[in-house]
Amino acid sequence: MNQDIREVLVSTEALATRIKELGEEISADYAGKDILMIGVLRGAVIFMADLARAISRPVTIDFMAVSSYGASTSSSGVVRIIKDLDEDVAGRHLLIVEDIIDSGLTLKYLYENLLSRRPASVRICTLLSKPSRRKVDVPVDYNGFTIPDDFVVGYGLDYAEKYRNLPYVGVLKPEAYGG
Ligand code: IMP
Ligand code: MG
Repeated sequence: MNQDIREVLVSTEALATRIKELGEEISADYAGKDILMIGVLRGAVIFMADLARAISRPVTIDFMAVSSYGASTSSSGVVRIIKDLDEDVAGRHLLIVEDIIDSGLTLKYLYENLLSRRPASVRICTLLSKPSRRKVDVPVDYNGFTIPDDFVVGYGLDYAEKYRNLPYVGVLKPEAYGG
C-alpha cells in the first residue's frame, strides 16, 4: 500500500464488483436508448473508463471540466466551466459521471446547466457520496458507495493532482496534506 494512505476504504475488488452492478442497472434502465456519458474532469476519468465497459448499451463519451478545490481539501463554492462539451446534447440521454459528491455544489451547477440545453433526459452517476457534507440537494440516480466524511484519494481522486492512479480508494494520512 502507498505510504501516504492510512487505510483502504474501497478495495480494487469491491470497485470491480460494484461497477459491474452499476453497469447492469444502467443498461437495463436505458433499454432501447443510446447514452451520452459526460465525465467530469479529471477525477471521473478512471471510473468512467471502467463504467463505460460495464454498460451494454451504445455509449458516446464526452467531458466537461469545472473549477474545483485546487490544492485545498475544502470547497470554495465557486463553480466555473473550464472546458465545455464537444457534443450537442439536445434530445439525447445524458448520464453525468462524477467521482464524488461532497457539498453537491459542482453537480448542482452542472445538472442545471445541462438541463437548460434541452436534452431528452439527465441522470447522475457518482462513484462515491459523502451525504453528511451535502449543502445542496442533487438528484443522484446511481451511487457506487456512501462514505464517511474523510478526505479520500485514488481511483481517479486526487490531492493536489497526486494519487489518481492508485487502484483503490483510500484515506489520506493527515501528514500527507500537512495536517
Ligand atoms: P462538491 O462540489 O463539494 O460536491 O465537490 C465535488 C468535487 O470535489 C469532486 O469532483 C472532487 O474533485 C472534489 N472532492 C470532494 N471530496 C473529495 C475527496 O474526499 N477527495 C478528493 N476530491 C474530493
Ligand atoms: Mg479534485
